[in-house]
Amino acid sequence: MKIVTVVGARPQFIKAAGMSRELRKRHEEILLNTGQHYDYEMAGIFFDGLEIPLAKYDLGVGSGSHGAQTGAMLKGIEEVLLSERPDWVLVYGDTNSTLSGALAAAKLHIPIGHVEAGLRSYNRRMPEEINRIVADHLSNMLLCPSRTALANLAAEGIVQNVHLIGDVMLDVLEWARPRAEAMTPEVLGRLGLRPQQYFLATIHRSENTDDPRRLMSILEALNSLGEPVVFPLHPRTRKAIAGSDFSFQTHVRITDPFGYLEMMSLSRSARSILTDSGGLQKEAYWLGVPCITLRDETEWVETVESGWNKLVGADSDEIRKAACSFAPPAVHSPLYGDGRAAERLAGLLS
Ligand code: UD1
Repeated sequence: MKIVTVVGARPQFIKAAGMSRELRKRHEEILLNTGQHYDYEMAGIFFDGLEIPLAKYDLGVGSGSHGAQTGAMLKGIEEVLLSERPDWVLVYGDTNSTLSGALAAAKLHIPIGHVEAGLRSYNRRMPEEINRIVADHLSNMLLCPSRTALANLAAEGIVQNVHLIGDVMLDVLEWARPRAEAMTPEVLGRLGLRPQQYFLATIHRSENTDDPRRLMSILEALNSLGEPVVFPLHPRTRKAIAGSDFSFQTHVRITDPFGYLEMMSLSRSARSILTDSGGLQKEAYWLGVPCITLRDETEWVETVESGWNKLVGADSDEIRKAACSFAPPAVHSPLYGDGRAAERLAGLLS
């Protein structure tokens, strides 16, 4: 089979790393990078660190309003699909690159496989929720990471060609685990950190970065913690903070975004992770690290039900209380598959 995989944003480079290794054993895969993320720390570092094959096409779309960004991607992806004529187009997750890839392929009658199908926050103010719904309804093969995702799709009438394959981010994590373990002493030493004696925080969702009240409340919570907080800044967050007069206490260490292996090294040894990222909620769970989620809802409900993830929103007091006292239970059951999602998908495409 000839497959065009559309990627463009940081979490998609990570997913592609897991998928491409397996896909290329049996199929011809062409990687198309929309260029949604373009800084080295948001894009190139993943191609280098995760051994992702080079993209044959790089559209260099960059940032812009949702309409401008999605429109430019749609045009570029259509041109590539017309010349490559693949048997399948694969899209990952819920970004504007996912939406554009699915739309371009659907209009050309090329079958679409959606990896990470069926996730819902039921909050349509999130751009990602719109992207997921459209991608799922256009897809010909829906690859789900959880039973909840299957049920969400069934509730919308999607029951055909739906497969539970597990989460491809677990495939990547299992590949990375020994490498990240080996790197941990050096990474912690460089940042002057001790295992279990620091927090790791990330924020990038528009609901937090584009709402000054929520953003300031989260930042104040980080300032009030009594232990080091490592805070790698997403470019969107950096811009939002630069436009304010907020100043950080010295225990909050602002850094550039980390590469995947460095990030896993820091995640596995953190006391807890405070985040609004989807991927990091699951990674925290797989690494056995308590997670405090800075959102009002999550797609990864199983992590909350397990007691290892606590939804606290953006309220300063709630965040501080959770950071100081949240203790997950001793039970830690496997979630989201067995780390062989990519192998299953490669088989389904045969
Ligand atoms: C996107 C995805 C989100 C995903 C996230 C991971 C959508 C709607 N959202 O949000 O689902 O979880 O990526 O990071 O697709 N920027 C840079 N340099 C970069 C990348 C971005 O400066 O390398 C800036 C842009 O100028 C823009 C802002 O960051 O102002 C946001 O970028 P955007 O492409 O909208 O996506 P994310 O917020 O990262």
